[in-house]
Amino acid sequence: MMQVMSVVRFKFDFTTVRMRNWLVGIFMMVLTLIILIRYDQSDHKIPTNHTTDDSSSIEGESSVEEPTKKPHFMTLEDLDYLFSNMSISGGEELNGLLVWSRMRPFLERPDALPETAQGIQEATLAMKDLVFLINKEKGASSALVSKELSRNCPDFVTAFDGDLSGLRPVLELPCGLVEDSSITLVGVPDEQSASFQIQLVGSGLSGETRRPIILRYNVNFSKPSIVQNTWTEKLGWGNEVRCPYHGSFKNHLVDELPLCNKQTGRITSEESSNDKATTDSSSLSNANFPFLKGSPFTATLWFGVEGFHMTINGQHETSFAYREKLEPWLVSAVKVSGGLKMLSALATRLPIPDDHASLVIEEKLKAPSLSGTRIELLVGVFSTGNNFKRRMALRRSWMQYEAVRSGKVAVRFLIGLHTNEKVNIEMWREAKAYGDIQFMPFVDYYGLLSLKTVALCILGTKVIQAKYIMKTDDDAFVRIDELLSSLKEKPSSALLYGLISFASSPDREQGSKWFIRKEEWLLDSYPPWAHGPGYIISHDIAKFVVKGHRQRDLRLFKLEDVAMGIWIQQFNQTIKRVKYINDKRFHNSDCKSNYILVHYQTPRLILCLWEKLQKESQSICCE
Ligand SMILES: *[C@@H]1O[C@H](CO)[C@@H](O)[C@H](O)[C@H]1NC(C)=O
Ligand SMILES: *[C@@H]1O[C@H](CO)[C@@H](O)[C@H](O)[C@H]1NC(C)=O
Ligand SMILES: *[C@@H]1O[C@H](CO)[C@@H](O)[C@H](O)[C@H]1NC(C)=O
Ligand SMILES: *[C@@H]1O[C@H](CO)[C@@H](O)[C@H](O)[C@H]1NC(C)=O
Repeated sequence: MMQVMSVVRFKFDFTTVRMRNWLVGIFMMVLTLIILIRYDQSDHKIPTNHTTDDSSSIEGESSVEEPTKKPHFMTLEDLDYLFSNMSISGGEELNGLLVWSRMRPFLERPDALPETAQGIQEATLAMKDLVFLINKEKGASSALVSKELSRNCPDFVTAFDGDLSGLRPVLELPCGLVEDSSITLVGVPDEQSASFQIQLVGSGLSGETRRPIILRYNVNFSKPSIVQNTWTEKLGWGNEVRCPYHGSFKNHLVDELPLCNKQTGRITSEESSNDKATTDSSSLSNANFPFLKGSPFTATLWFGVEGFHMTINGQHETSFAYREKLEPWLVSAVKVSGGLKMLSALATRLPIPDDHASLVIEEKLKAPSLSGTRIELLVGVFSTGNNFKRRMALRRSWMQYEAVRSGKVAVRFLIGLHTNEKVNIEMWREAKAYGDIQFMPFVDYYGLLSLKTVALCILGTKVIQAKYIMKTDDDAFVRIDELLSSLKEKPSSALLYGLISFASSPDREQGSKWFIRKEEWLLDSYPPWAHGPGYIISHDIAKFVVKGHRQRDLRLFKLEDVAMGIWIQQFNQTIKRVKYINDKRFHNSDCKSNYILVHYQTPRLILCLWEKLQKESQSICCE
């Protein structure tokens, strides 16, 4: 198993996030200063132990985990285990598994989504770990458990000097990363070495052989360049993204940022076009290369909506789009190799759950129990394991609408398992505390989202009888009051309501998050579909979706919102003419006043929107 690091772990208890970030910022600046001063006073001696040959670094890392044979296909035992009673008893706890038990037929399809087998297999491992922990917790005294668990997900993690030697990870991130997290490394490239690497590695489930590399950042001085890539045991290395870039990536943006800093790109590409045989690094490109041998740098890696972004000494240098199944929430450690002397490392704004163990949970934050009769609206919020803060923000804001508190509207988070047991146990506790989480029997890969859509339809028709069913995300703000009054005038059957795209076509650009191969969708256009951050369907359509998938009349498609559009078109053709109602008050990207829904809101903005509604009774944006 992983080595436990002697890193310094702090947990602040300040009430506001802003204050914490501010303090961490100050702390980091002071830390960096101290380290740089100390570094300057030392004789710039660079230990050579990080200088491992790059090609062998993968081998070297993996030797920590003993390779055990791991099949890459789904076995019946996996499914049987996953859908057994899982040695968990007690009705209350099983509330989070209401849909789980009904998902089996949808996962066994021969035409399942490509990630299904892996998602289920990893969920089986994760569930075994979780059941072990739950049973252990039951046996232990609660005081002991809460103390132990409060350390599960640190707020931030730092390491410096003594902790940074050897081949161990420089930072362990037990609960992954979320959007808004950042990692800051201060280091000095070795004078003698030609390259160094920074790597974000994924979590190693028990039984897994080699941990995936979610980002490998290779800095090469022999011909100044930065090469970014990913690695998994199954697929090996992906397509590398090289800076300075060559042609094809030129106009590619990630979160509106270029893949490579233009300055670095321009100068070096001029140089390379002049003479391709320049083996030695010329002084010209060196001057514009963000790294300099023997000279300390501060590298900050932050996590956007679409990808990783690297800032060197305060300037944006590179971006890298997230790849499928290699999402930031999976990151569990930061490693460095090659010629780099690390001075300090800090990861901040890490995902932390509320302390459910020792706090008394406010009654108003718990999901009201449903009477069992028909409800007006079920809202399914798609969330991911370590998005603790986002879920709390929703509970404290729009989930406080009277309609939700009275049980007229039910809001449930749909969450797959995480590959990290610490996140899973925290989630389990959260589910018990608030009663608003539905677990999915697979690991939360982006490619499996449309299975969640099917699960939501099951929840709204088989478990809860909802007149309307809404799908939304955990970074969206929904004005339930406005939505309900708007729904009053809408038909109660054959309805798709939201921000609808009537004429869109598949993204055929490889590497895009929405890339669709011809085999997945042959036509050049999609049927009408409503944007994923928030759309509403009527009960009859949800029922049709569940039945259609059980009978395998409907095909799965990885983009969940488009998938719903495809299924609804089939409903339109075979059952009843569908009313497609487009409403521009569902805001997909930016925020405008008088919204019904806004997307891409951080927890802070979500709470701010709620406050504005409470104080000024107006739906105004916060930015
Ligand atoms: C490097 O590693 C070797 C053995 O692995 C050890 O003997 C040596 O002291 C280390 N050097 C430094 C500078 O850490
Ligand atoms: C699961 O538990 C319930 C009640 O605790 C029991 O009725 C049922 O038979 C169990 N199912 C399996 C597959 O063990
Ligand atoms: C660095 O670049 C040189 C020249 O392009 C190449 O031969 C070498 O393999 C690279 N090293 C690494 C670690 O990428
Ligand atoms: C729905 O069905 C009607 C005919 O019943 C058809 O005219 C219409 O084009 C269909 N809409 C879509 C999006 O397929």
